[in-house]
Amino acid sequence: MIQITQPGIIRLGVLASGRGSNFDAICAAIDRGDLQAQIEILISDKADAAALEKASKRGISARFIDPNSFADRQYYEGEIVSTLRGAGVELVVLAGYMRLVGQVMLQNYRWRILNIHPALLPSFTGLHAQKQAVEYGVRFSGCTVHMVDEGMDTGPIIRQAVVPVYQYDDEDSLAARILEQEHNLYWQSLQLFAQGRVYLDGRKVIIRDESREEMA
Ligand code: GAR
Repeated sequence: MIQITQPGIIRLGVLASGRGSNFDAICAAIDRGDLQAQIEILISDKADAAALEKASKRGISARFIDPNSFADRQYYEGEIVSTLRGAGVELVVLAGYMRLVGQVMLQNYRWRILNIHPALLPSFTGLHAQKQAVEYGVRFSGCTVHMVDEGMDTGPIIRQAVVPVYQYDDEDSLAARILEQEHNLYWQSLQLFAQGRVYLDGRKVIIRDESREEMA
């Protein structure tokens, strides 16, 4: 069994492609003192990502790294990894980062790249997960925080939150209900790393002391 992080204030690097509401929720949890972490840098693959501006406004270093200015993904990710390492990042947080992660990042941050996905994995991987859930007709969906591996949304699951799906839901109404849960689930999952409680046993994540807490 591998322990992923030691207890202590955890140094995060966030990767985001869009509006950055999950990034905001993580910042808010840090500000409230609920999450023992520090965000060292926010990186985006999109020049116009609102997340970049949100980070700058908070005084967090924000950097656009253009995937198109590199010969291939290996070089692009090489730049991301050296930026993250330069900033002292221990744990990489994908928050609406709409790209598949490749070998360079995976090898440099093995089991230390987390993602949030707006569905109950292993159902509805990939893009438009909320639309997939509505169209399939499931009665419950939700969100999943997981470690990133080689597959698309296939890595070890850390935490999940469930929401009902109503028959009048469309993609947007379901996405909004799920997003509310995302904004708690992500920082709570990160706090487990700050507490040094996350272990990996095969593909199963073990949270130390969880059962005792749940029984209390
Ligand atoms: C979130 O709903 C997140 O779960 C999803 O993108 C949104 C980003 O919102 N991520 C994925 O679909 C990844 N496959 P945000 O930019 O406001 O945090």
